[in-house]
Amino acid sequence: MAIRPILHYPDKRLRTPGKPIEDFGPEFQKLVDDMAETMYAAPGVGLAAPQLGESLRLFIIDIATEEEAASDLRVFANPEIFELEGEVLYEEGCLSFPGIREDVVRAERVRVRAQDRHGERFELQADELLAIALQHENDHLDGKLMIDHLSLLKRRLVHRNLTRRAAEGAVAE
Ligand code: NI
Repeated sequence: MAIRPILHYPDKRLRTPGKPIEDFGPEFQKLVDDMAETMYAAPGVGLAAPQLGESLRLFIIDIATEEEAASDLRVFANPEIFELEGEVLYEEGCLSFPGIREDVVRAERVRVRAQDRHGERFELQADELLAIALQHENDHLDGKLMIDHLSLLKRRLVHRNLTRRAAEGAVAE
């Protein structure tokens, strides 16, 4: 297992839609392990493969990280969210937007069908933090980011803030 660098906005690779997972072999298993280690080290409650520059329909979630409960890693390959119900406002963060937390409106309850790390299909109903995390991570697979859910004014502020930081980082290197 290895901790891998997480791409930060405005890295264009975050906008590349993920391709379906077809091979659940050793290379895929290694990627899932690397993603888990990277997410726990950050720490974060979710991480999508495109955030590591891997354009695949894959994300992981462990909301226990936030709730300080025993770890509960869930792997979602080729996920599909359906039956979105209700509306909820939650202050979200994203490992690709360091230091940023903004209110985002999401569905309150969702159902998702996906494959686990062994390719087994499953279906899940989710609410509360898990429902929010599912929608946030699923967006990453379509190249969609939390900034896209903000008002134009907030989008500009976040963009300016992180673009400046990226420029400073480039100078520092
Ligand atoms: Ni994110």
